[in-house]
Amino acid sequence: MADITVIGSNMIDLITYIDRMPTEGETISAPSFSMGFGGKGSNQAIAAARLGADVAMITAVGGDEFGAQQLDNYEKNGIGTETIIRGKANSGVAPIFVDPTSDNRIIIVKGANEELTPEALNQFIDVIQSSKLIVLQQEIPLETNYRAIEIANEANVPVLLNPAPAVSGIDKDFVTRVQFYAPNETELATITGMPVETLDDIKEAARTLVKEGVSNLIVTLGSKGVLWISPDDAKLIPAHKVDAVDTTGAGDSFIGAFANFYVAGESIPEALAHANDYSAVTVTRPGTQKSYPTAAELNR
Ligand code: RIB
Ligand code: NA
Repeated sequence: MADITVIGSNMIDLITYIDRMPTEGETISAPSFSMGFGGKGSNQAIAAARLGADVAMITAVGGDEFGAQQLDNYEKNGIGTETIIRGKANSGVAPIFVDPTSDNRIIIVKGANEELTPEALNQFIDVIQSSKLIVLQQEIPLETNYRAIEIANEANVPVLLNPAPAVSGIDKDFVTRVQFYAPNETELATITGMPVETLDDIKEAARTLVKEGVSNLIVTLGSKGVLWISPDDAKLIPAHKVDAVDTTGAGDSFIGAFANFYVAGESIPEALAHANDYSAVTVTRPGTQKSYPTAAELNR
């Protein structure tokens, strides 16, 4: 049993640092390549664990060598492997391209992550219902997220849903059944169908969701910071100015860090500000989980 239970994906990140993308039929060479552990679910779990949180991870690793490496990675980061399903398919992988401006393009091949079905969750009802917070993203079947929300709701366990990557056709009823709904600005546009060009646009779209029943809407705005809107509060927490080298997984580090600080007893705005500090450090270093500091490193 753990304080934070993350239900979600794991991937092996195959990161190529590029000068530019090739055009059709073209072969180009790139300066460097790096492989590491990723997947939005795992990234969030590892960030929280490195900050000292007690974390369980419900995920499906592949039946291949990458799956064995994933198990090893959880163990090394103090996350138990009792809730990890050994799938039949190959592990999820993510070819990623990072350009000289530190921005990324990501392709996910879900593989074994598809084996994390609603039925598979039923064996972990106790783990879910004894947690202080459930954290979800969207790289596993949508129905599994719905089932997770149902199980958590039955025991009044709060849920944080990070709707990444954005998918259309979400059952909006479930969005009102989570305590925290945390899209980035692009995902907010997909969900609401509203423009997000300016901060006023973003606030307008955010307020629409709150009116529809979202209790705490957290919109991550990259270098512009993070916006928190609830029925009776609204705050914009500015981001730190840093020299970014690789923004891959920065959003995930933010979610994992927020979960850690919130479960540790901080208020929502305090936890958001500390999560901002955490993700600012990760963008100054290459790689996904590789770039996530521990609590001690963060304090330095
Ligand atoms: O958010 C970054 C993550 O997206 C990467 O680790 C990649 O695996 C994809 O899941
Ligand atoms: Na990074």
